[in-house]
Amino acid sequence: MKDLLRRKTSLTEEIETALNEQIKREAHSSAVYLAMGSWCDQHGFENSANFFYRQSSEERGHMMKIFKYILDVGGNAVSPEVTGIQQDYDSFRAVFEQTLEQEIAITQSINRIVGKCYQMQDFTTATFLQWFLEEQIEEEYIARRALELFDTIGEEGVGRYMIDKQIPKISYDKNETGE
Ligand code: FEO
Repeated sequence: MKDLLRRKTSLTEEIETALNEQIKREAHSSAVYLAMGSWCDQHGFENSANFFYRQSSEERGHMMKIFKYILDVGGNAVSPEVTGIQQDYDSFRAVFEQTLEQEIAITQSINRIVGKCYQMQDFTTATFLQWFLEEQIEEEYIARRALELFDTIGEEGVGRYMIDKQIPKISYDKNETGE
């Protein structure tokens, strides 16, 4: 039965597995951002909490995009198990440090899958993943800018309050040249 199903899809088992692992990573990111939102909410950083709630939904959207793609090309999309979500954070800054680390890890993992796609001449999946690579430029940019606020504004006195106020203002415009 499994062999028969395989003949109905051009997706190799290796790429299908890699995509299902990416589904798990996106689901994990979504859950981590939800935990970060909760932490920020409880510590009075309301704007950052909302930022993380939005990020959490976006990551779920990413997960669903891959999930749907696997099914659209006749593969088997697996509903991910998400465990081991860190709920507590050392500091406001640590939350954003982990955000940037997480986004860099996601970029690296998508790059690895695209590399594998080229190796296996799966140009369809490589093209599909192009959107994710572009999205990661934005995600990393926003995480980096957020983290920079801690140095430019400083955390002393009303610093953290000011940082939280600036978080919703961070946006990414890929066409901006600064001219
Ligand atoms: Fe879907 Fe931010 O990686």
